[in-house]
Amino acid sequence: MAYIPEDKLLEIKDAASLEEVIGSYVKLTRRGRNLVGLCPFHADTKPSFTVAPDKGIFYCFGCGAGGNVFSFLMQYHRLSFPEAVEELARRYNIPLTRRDLGPEGAKASRKRQAWYELNTQAVAFYQETLKSPVGRAAREYLERRGLTPEVVRDYQLGYAPPEWDGLRKHLQHRGLSLELAQEIGLLMPRASGGSYDRFRDRIMFPIADRTGRVVAFGGRVISEGEPKYLNSPDSPLYTKGRLLFGLPQAAPALRREDLALVVEGYLDLLALRVHGIEPVLATLGTALTRDQVRLLKSLVSRVVLVFDGDAAGAAAMRRAFPLFAEEGLAVRVLPLPAGMDPDNYVHAEGPDLFQAAWEKAQPMFAFLVEGLIDKHGLDIEGRVRLLGELRPYFQCLRDPVERDLWLRFTAGRLGVEEGSLRLSLTSSSPAAAARLSPERLLAINLEKSLIKWVLQHPGTLSLTELEEWVQEFEDRELQGLMSLILQCCREHGTLDLGLLIQKVEEEHHRRQICALALDGGEFGALPAGMVAEDWRRAFLKRRLKKAEAAIKEKLQAAASDPTGAELQTLLAQSQEIQRTLESLKTGDPIKGENG
Ligand code: UTP
Ligand code: MN
Repeated sequence: MAYIPEDKLLEIKDAASLEEVIGSYVKLTRRGRNLVGLCPFHADTKPSFTVAPDKGIFYCFGCGAGGNVFSFLMQYHRLSFPEAVEELARRYNIPLTRRDLGPEGAKASRKRQAWYELNTQAVAFYQETLKSPVGRAAREYLERRGLTPEVVRDYQLGYAPPEWDGLRKHLQHRGLSLELAQEIGLLMPRASGGSYDRFRDRIMFPIADRTGRVVAFGGRVISEGEPKYLNSPDSPLYTKGRLLFGLPQAAPALRREDLALVVEGYLDLLALRVHGIEPVLATLGTALTRDQVRLLKSLVSRVVLVFDGDAAGAAAMRRAFPLFAEEGLAVRVLPLPAGMDPDNYVHAEGPDLFQAAWEKAQPMFAFLVEGLIDKHGLDIEGRVRLLGELRPYFQCLRDPVERDLWLRFTAGRLGVEEGSLRLSLTSSSPAAAARLSPERLLAINLEKSLIKWVLQHPGTLSLTELEEWVQEFEDRELQGLMSLILQCCREHGTLDLGLLIQKVEEEHHRRQICALALDGGEFGALPAGMVAEDWRRAFLKRRLKKAEAAIKEKLQAAASDPTGAELQTLLAQSQEIQRTLESLKTGDPIKGENG
């Protein structure tokens, strides 16, 4: 993630007081060892935002935002990681030189700056051209589409002139590298050498990342033509499916309303903005991706999908459902009348539907069921088909309470008995069965709980013990988290949570660690030694139970063996295990395998 050397990062992190930094943006009050306040990242009404200065991390129990001092600045000021590091270094007078970035780092950093500068210049050039006489047709087109000058300005819309070298000359004139401009897709290489403009005679929509820096463009033909949109290719600055259009412009409204409306097109989004609907984001010509759902999750806790009122729009919403269900992000859909998209709907009917959109929208599962009823009808054959199609969606629902509610809803809607519907919808998927088996849930709980304990009471269990147990973790994700924690302990002798956060690449893992580290535990005020002993017991018991199950299986096979020799050995082993399990109940202290 970072090319800044770790000792430098540590120096800055340790110099910076988390309490002081966050305290300058959020009013904090002390609660025990922690500080609490209203979360700056969502519409918080009770103080859900917790800062743990001794651990070096913060976490919001309302929206799940969390991290260390660097992540706080990144999220609050929408900075990149190096920018946040630089900001803190400045604030705490720690010299940070080009040398700290390393020769590679300094080069990469310069290159990045140059790419951003090229995009900034391109935006300015397209904007100027839109205002100039050659931009007249484009201006008239935007006006015909109902866009106001304010929206055109806020979204930095522009126009690429028809020539082959309009932008190229502009960049060249400013002494910028045409080669770098090719790398981010502004210019195309010419077979005979040199380069020419990728976008010509198109209305330009700059695509910005969440910090507001432009990373790509979409270009629309004026009125009719093919392709309707030409987009920047993937580049070092831009990966399709990672971003949503309109992020920086929507950010304040997203935070305020804790809600995002997601539409499919640039012009749908802009039409809503013209009508005063602000928390809007648009996908960029691809089906909604998991990355985009995660991005949404980091911004808001409720999403309303507003796709076109046709079969394709409905299918796109259905495809998105599993992603939202798996990511645990609340989603509803706002179906539009047939043949309408948000753009022509809002122009014809006004913005009413989109105000209080959450209240007016339909829960996704209800939308699915209604759609399937329309498709298959409610006769017996139709209902059977419908259930077949509904099953995979149903199995995406992870929350048992939610599953139950939708089960009841579906039973009522189809006029079938709830019990048999439950059987029909939950059976016959090995994956879902595995996810729900009580043993597996227990295993996950045990593993999660252990991570919680280690984060909150480092040093009470030996690294050797933990390293052995982590091999036995059943949940891959938790296993990954635990391994990372142990690696961090090993490298630094102690568990530095702030540093650990820095090493975790994935945002949702970072959040999970903060949540587990700060979650009021199930451990109460038990003495650490006693709890440690309990862990040893629990893992030993689990291992023995597994061995026992394996022996049982072998016993069944061996029962048909006439000599009975193998049977004897297995029985002896089984008895030995039973004895150990019994002794575990008596509460005598046990030794971890390694002392
Ligand atoms: P639409 O065709 O619905 O475009 O495609 P639109 O934005 O509503 O524009 P108008 O109203 O027809 O003028 C939805 C989105 O899909 C992507 C664009 O991001 C567009 O906004 N798209 C569409 C492409 O990338 N390429 C295309 O050729 C078409
Ligand atoms: Mn449209």
